[in-house]
Parts: sequence; C-alpha cells; structure tokens
Amino acid sequence: MKFEFENPTHLVFGAGTLSQIGEIVRKHGKKALLVTGGGSVKRNGTFERALSSLNAAGVTVIECAGVEPNPRLSSVMRGAQIARDEGCDIVIGMGGGSTMDAAKVMAAAVNYEGDPWEMIIHGQDNWRLPTSALPIITVPTLAATGSEMNGGAVVTNEKTTVKSFVIAKCLYPRVAIVDPELTLSVPPDQTAFGICDLITHVTESYFNGADGTPLQDRFAEGVILTAMEWGPKAVTDGNNLEARAQVQWASVVALNGWVQVGTAGAFPVHIIEHVLSAHHDIAHGAGLSVVNPAWMRFAAQTRPARFARFAQRIFGLSLKHPDDRDAAMEGIDRFEAFLHSIGCPTRLSQLEIGDALLERYAHDTVHIIHDGEGHLPGRPPMSEEDIVEILRSAL
Ligand SMILES: [Fe+2]
Repeated sequence: MKFEFENPTHLVFGAGTLSQIGEIVRKHGKKALLVTGGGSVKRNGTFERALSSLNAAGVTVIECAGVEPNPRLSSVMRGAQIARDEGCDIVIGMGGGSTMDAAKVMAAAVNYEGDPWEMIIHGQDNWRLPTSALPIITVPTLAATGSEMNGGAVVTNEKTTVKSFVIAKCLYPRVAIVDPELTLSVPPDQTAFGICDLITHVTESYFNGADGTPLQDRFAEGVILTAMEWGPKAVTDGNNLEARAQVQWASVVALNGWVQVGTAGAFPVHIIEHVLSAHHDIAHGAGLSVVNPAWMRFAAQTRPARFARFAQRIFGLSLKHPDDRDAAMEGIDRFEAFLHSIGCPTRLSQLEIGDALLERYAHDTVHIIHDGEGHLPGRPPMSEEDIVEILRSAL
C-alpha cells in the first residue's frame, strides 16, 4: 500500500504547559481571537491564567465566548465576523472538541469566499474545502475528540439539522498546548463520553480499514487498552492527574492520524452518530457509546475474524478458530459492558431517542456521504435499511 503522511502540528504536552501560551502564541500572531465554550474555563480559572500569560507576552486578546456543544454554523459565522472586524491574526480554541472545532472553522471562514457551510462535506456535488486559514492554536480542556492535533472539524447547520465535518490541511493547528491539569475538573459523565469517543476513533479504522496493517492494528489496540486501563481511574477520581494525563495522551494519539496511516478506513459509526446529534443535540461520545456496539454486532456478521481478533487481543478470549463467531460476539458484549461500567449509555432509550425517525436518520446519514451504490462506506458498506436495522437493535 502506498501512502503519504504529514502532521504539521507542534505538540506541547504536559501538566502546567498552559503557562507557556503567551510565548507560544506570540510567535504566530499579535492579536488573538480567543474562542471559548459555555464558561467552565472561566469558572475554573483557566481563562484568567491564559489571559495573563497572553497579556504578559504582549498579545492582544479579543474574546468569542459561548460556543455551544455540537457547535452551530451561526456561532462560526459570529466568530469569523468578530475576527474580521477586530483584525485578528490568530485564533485560539480553548475548550472541548466543540470549541476547538468551531475555532478552526472560524479561522478558515475569515477569508473564505462564499457561504462557509460549503466547506463542510454535507452531500453537495462539489466540495469547496478551505485552502487557507488564520494560524490556529488549540488548548483542549477535555480528552476526547483529538481535534487539537488534526485537520478536522465538525459543525452543525441548525437551519437544515445537518451535522457534518470538514478535513483540510489548513485546519491543522500550528500548536496544540495539551495540559492534562485543565481536564481535572471535567465531570465523570463527560470524562466517560470522552473515553468512548477516543476509543471509537481507533475502532473505526481498526474495523473499517484495509487488510494487512499489523502495526496499525497494534497501535489501535494499544490506544484501546490504555484507555480501558486508565479511563476508569479518571472517571472514579477526577483529580488523578496521572490518569488524566494517560487518557489525554491516548485521545491525542487516537486521532492525530498516526493510528490511521495507511488504513484508508471509513468512519461509519461517526457519520451515523452525527445525525443523531444533529436531531437530538446529544453528547457525541454518548451517541457513539450506543451506536458503536450495535454497529459492531452488525459488521461482525460479515467479518467475524476481525471481531474475534478484537476479542482475543483486547479481552484475552481464546479462539476455537480464527473466525470464531461466539468469541467475536462475546468480545463485543464485553466492550459494551465496559462502556456501561464507566457510565456511558448503551441504548437509544437512555438518550430519550425512540423509533419515530429511524428512516430519517438512515436517509440523512447516507445523504452526507455515500458510495456509487448509495451505501454508507465502511466494512460492510451499509444501505439505509442496514442503518435502520442497527439503530433498531439499539433501542
Ligand atoms: Fe469522535
């Protein structure tokens, strides 16, 4: 297999690294749009610490607060307008995945010609990906999306109820400041959802990627095992800095591209979950926790050996033969039990989602991205009926 790989983001990792934000930002800009979410960074002092470091370094700060979970296109437009009006030359995304994603798209929207929604892949015939953006600095306060060190972002168009993604080279942050201390105040449920999200980032490529990627398989298994070892400790004791650090490093590695190199994998579980989030405004990781095991049981029918190996490598189950279906299903049951054990939902009913719109979710999912036969890419490719079946099994 041929592939190329580049991740240009400079990573600064470790407890206390937030204090370096001023000197880091100063190398890339003078006037920063500082994008934040619902206010937790102000309540726990992160905002003030960042502001004093930035001011001490001579960086002028213009604030864009209030980016919501499942960030909306209107928030992106608002932030881009502030950056234009104020003449900002750099964008800082400080918060969870939603805040960082919104900040990234704002940075690209500042100079984007036309409607910024056109840069989001949402079923249009011609993708108009952004080719330039203001320099981006990410400061994650939650271990989950990995957005701090990749070129992706997810935005919701609240007018059309579509949540989808953009991936572009210009969206890679210049610097990711990953300080695990900033995650100490994350509540147990959000911590658990983040753990589910990071694990799902690697199960997508593990189960949907090309054959013959033994090293990538081991990378993915390493991320999963690390998250399963340290994740429960972070959920149980939020002040366990070592657990927070291990989980956050796992979340960075899970989606900075390295695990996925050469796998050419699709992300069907994510595409399905995005539709549920668009309609019901649920937490991304919570939606994944319901959809992923249900999808696994469906996909294991056509690829039992892959799921049997997952059961063997992750849960130590012994296989009677390489495509041992019983072991495959047992492994999925155990994975679902793990998610349940850390407080993640595993049924749609726990998210107050019923069966009224199953066909609509399936239709919307396939509309966002589909192959020549109209199927959602993955292993196996899925028809709308398949997606309905998966979701129905998770009610
Ligand atoms: Fe995700």
